Amino acid sequence: MNTEQALPGINLQSFFEETRNSALNKYHSDFLNALTDRIGFRSHGRDQEWNQRLSALPQLDKVTADFSLDRVSLSSAETIDPVSLSKILMGLHPWRKGPFDIFGIQIDSEWRSDWKWRRILPHLSPLEGRRVLDVGTGNGYFLYRMLGEHVDLALGIDPTRLFSYQFQALQNLQPENRAFLLPLKDEDMPPCQFFDTVFSLGVLYHRRQPIKHLQQLTNSLRPGGELVLETLIIQEGTASLEPIDRYAQMRNVWLVPTISKVEELLHQCHYRDIKVADINVTSMAEQRSTAWMRYQSLEDFLDPQDSSKTIEGFPAPVRAVIIATKL
Ligand SMILES: C[S@@+](CC[C@H](N)C(=O)[O-])C[C@H]1O[C@@H](n2cnc3c(N)ncnc32)[C@H](O)[C@@H]1O
Repeated sequence: MNTEQALPGINLQSFFEETRNSALNKYHSDFLNALTDRIGFRSHGRDQEWNQRLSALPQLDKVTADFSLDRVSLSSAETIDPVSLSKILMGLHPWRKGPFDIFGIQIDSEWRSDWKWRRILPHLSPLEGRRVLDVGTGNGYFLYRMLGEHVDLALGIDPTRLFSYQFQALQNLQPENRAFLLPLKDEDMPPCQFFDTVFSLGVLYHRRQPIKHLQQLTNSLRPGGELVLETLIIQEGTASLEPIDRYAQMRNVWLVPTISKVEELLHQCHYRDIKVADINVTSMAEQRSTAWMRYQSLEDFLDPQDSSKTIEGFPAPVRAVIIATKL
């Protein structure tokens, strides 16, 4: 597959160029094969429309990026038409992860992903100089925050096509950096044992076989590397939840584990130093509909009479951050 033409407008080539001189080089053909399977023969009905949005973006020379702020920010001394840029970016609706400040345009995403990052960051081994993988990265908001911590390389994978276009739009508006997003799934990752830190935030409960997901993450981590797992959990003392139909209106939630269940799975995958870094009840201030995500959100997924329950009668979403070291 020719990566330059694989997805119209999406730059997959830079990942291969930038990792040519690293130990990932050995796995380039695996990445290419996976990309061929995932996207080579499957166009998305909206590829062309989203690519047109990318083509309409202004070309700017003097842009400064600041990834250390809650709002990932781009600024420029050049004159930018905010109305037309806002329209282009809105054409990539819905923006689920953020927030972003793009030349003064405030992308108020469905999630305050900065709040999640603030809960995670203090517990991590310092990210400076590390090579990190973020599985299920969404539009790459967290990749930018990782760059803000001076990682050496931030690779994200996510199969949702729109998120590749959102990330590419953000990349096209700024100088080159060391963040890359490939439209792949966890199971597509070659067993490279390359990354110093692997993140899986909000993905475990979407996987039919959570143990497989963890094994796939383990295969990407170097020995001694750090796993950062964020997942929905259910209160200890009850059985892990296996929703037959929906959980908080999501069709694709297969397991809401207890912390002990997560620990058991991590032990099975040979992790040590398993720490629960944070437990947080998801609030309607953190996940909500906005102008940039106009569909329903958490408020609509909870019992209107009792917000401690989902609309299906399950306990409302609680999330835990668990950090562990690969043996
Ligand atoms: C709930 S979102 C979490 C996004 C982000 N990590 C966060 O914590 O805000 C789940 C993400 O996982 C992605 N996803 C779903 N199945 C996946 C898989 N098999 N491998 C990798 N990512 C997957 C979805 O496209 C979506 O962006």
